[in-house]
Amino acid sequence: MGVTGASTGDRFSFRFPEMVSFGDGAVSDLPVLLREMKAEHPLILSGRTVSEGPVMERIREILDLSGIRYGVFNGVEPEPPVEIVKAAAEAARGAGHDTMIGLGGGSTMDLTKVASVMAATGADILSMVGRDRVPCRGLPTVMLPTTSGSGSEVSPVAIFTFAEEKVKKGVVSSFLVPDAAIVDPELTWSVPPKVTADTGMDAMIHAVESFLSVNANPFSESLSLEAVRRIASSLEGAVMDGRDAASRRGMSLGSLLAGMAFAMAGTAAVHALAYPLGGEFHIPHGTANTVMLKSVMEFNRDQCTGKMSHLARAVSEECLNMSDEEASEYLIEWMTGMARRIGVTTRIRDLGVPEAAIPTMAEAASRETRLLSNNPKTMNREDIEKIYRRAW
Ligand SMILES: [Fe+2]
Repeated sequence: MGVTGASTGDRFSFRFPEMVSFGDGAVSDLPVLLREMKAEHPLILSGRTVSEGPVMERIREILDLSGIRYGVFNGVEPEPPVEIVKAAAEAARGAGHDTMIGLGGGSTMDLTKVASVMAATGADILSMVGRDRVPCRGLPTVMLPTTSGSGSEVSPVAIFTFAEEKVKKGVVSSFLVPDAAIVDPELTWSVPPKVTADTGMDAMIHAVESFLSVNANPFSESLSLEAVRRIASSLEGAVMDGRDAASRRGMSLGSLLAGMAFAMAGTAAVHALAYPLGGEFHIPHGTANTVMLKSVMEFNRDQCTGKMSHLARAVSEECLNMSDEEASEYLIEWMTGMARRIGVTTRIRDLGVPEAAIPTMAEAASRETRLLSNNPKTMNREDIEKIYRRAW
């Protein structure tokens, strides 16, 4: 067993942040938390949109009132290239920051996790790509997610785009699990519907893939099932009305639970086949997952009909009296229907990706062994190409 919290059958271990604070208004806990962590000069990392919006204004107010001195690095970009991670680490080192606060979506939090190690040790990001290659913990980190999707606030995973190779690669290590996370649903209220839908589909897929993973365990399974329940009842509401507090709360909690589940059990083939769409064609992560979802689940179904029917019964009472066979089919149709209702593309061709790109994408996806090894059904290079063709 690796040290990243992976599970094998009944034997499992996990590592979560020391402190997770959840709920509307939880962000006001930030000064107390920073004092507990003995943070004297934190650096807030964010992207431009967040740094110019109401969320940053609120954080500034809270910190200014508390008298904590802080810096801001607002150069995070979506799907951050490695140069930006280096720049963030240098900004922290240069100004002597002792703690890093990731304020944003998955990209910002992933960047913060790896930049904290680089700032503390001078380690190069390239030497950390892969599993368990991070030398030690970095500067203490606090995550403040502003979207409900990535689960990065509790996970040991960080994903980056390597522009020259046109691929996305993961840095995976228990040393990347943040020290603390404050999950405040109110921070997601200003997220536009398109991003809410895209990140929400990602969260749903984390719940589903972690539940079906061969590395799932009783602990992760209960988190996955509760996650899928919350997401099923909240996603449409959060997309339709961003200020619907109950739906935002449901999505924040669902995403957090799904993040904890996949931190243990991993994600699988949907993510593996989605990565080439992100690396090569810059398709947003949730959309890339969504276009692969149906075809991968149809491929998997005969190996995990029973487990898929559990998920189906968690998302809809309509399945309670169905056979496992019927319920597992229902689940696939239900997830695709949900994506359509909230406006997330479900076919690769509608993303402008040419069919001729499939062999190259299949080659790239077949190298994602970290994720494919979690899949409930073994998938070879030929299977992957067929799945892409069905999804196209
Ligand atoms: Fe994901």
